[in-house]
Amino acid sequence: MMRPPVERLTLTSLTPQHAADAAWLHTVGQPGSFLTALGDEVLTVLYRVLPQSRVGFGFAAVDPLQPQKLLGFVSATTGVAALFLEMGLRRFPDFAPALARRFVQEPTLALRATETVLYPFLHETSDAPSPTGELLSIMVRPELRSLGVGGLLVAALKAECRRRGVAALDVTVAAANRGAQRFYVRHGFTYVQTFSLYGQPMHLYRTLLSENQAAER
Ligand SMILES: CC(C)(COP(=O)(O)OP(=O)(O)OC[C@H]1O[C@@H](n2cnc3c(N)ncnc32)[C@H](O)[C@@H]1OP(=O)(O)O)[C@@H](O)C(=O)NCCC(=O)NCCS
Repeated sequence: MMRPPVERLTLTSLTPQHAADAAWLHTVGQPGSFLTALGDEVLTVLYRVLPQSRVGFGFAAVDPLQPQKLLGFVSATTGVAALFLEMGLRRFPDFAPALARRFVQEPTLALRATETVLYPFLHETSDAPSPTGELLSIMVRPELRSLGVGGLLVAALKAECRRRGVAALDVTVAAANRGAQRFYVRHGFTYVQTFSLYGQPMHLYRTLLSENQAAER
């Protein structure tokens, strides 16, 4: 594919229309992860539902000439427990058919899904500022990586979190994903702790979003 010009790129809100592209970018960006194993159909539902949630939002990097096509995106929630509750109760009918099809094909995924339900408790820390949001995913098309697109997405996300009154932003990253950890540290995140998810070590990083820090930038 021809590389879209980065100079032309703009950021817009992530919308349900971006869902299919977001699912594809997630699959390419996180091979071997649990969410990717759930498959394209489940991921598409996730990215359709997330921007419609009161506690979910994100930004899309697009070429203004083709605004529906995602070049990269970041998604987040102002409260991971509230989001999980909403997805697991009110939005469960959206997920049920796609999840059922995947669980029939691969029953072990159902067991791993129960661990996902416990996720907000697995990485809970007693000293987290309130409210703490969570960066859920950030993905840039492979041919556009290391050109600053991810940095633009994180900056927009932090500004929006501040606007929504979020005091800190957490992100969970696979211990093996050293590139992403370097990226987060460069953008003001610091290591908090390691925990286990799906049998894999995960690192929790956090950035504080106080008014003073906003003024510094
Ligand atoms: C992490 C990611 C979103 C950063 O976006 P980007 O546009 O490449 O970011 P920037 O150009 O602003 O910064 C470049 C930095 O990103 C990181 N990075 C680059 N390619 C990466 C990759 N394939 N995997 C993980 N991190 C990567 C590196 O830290 C890089 O800095 P370096 O060149 O000094 O090594 C992007 O590389 C990506 O989509 N990676 C795969 C998906 C992923 O791992 N997401 C994070 C976990 S949810």
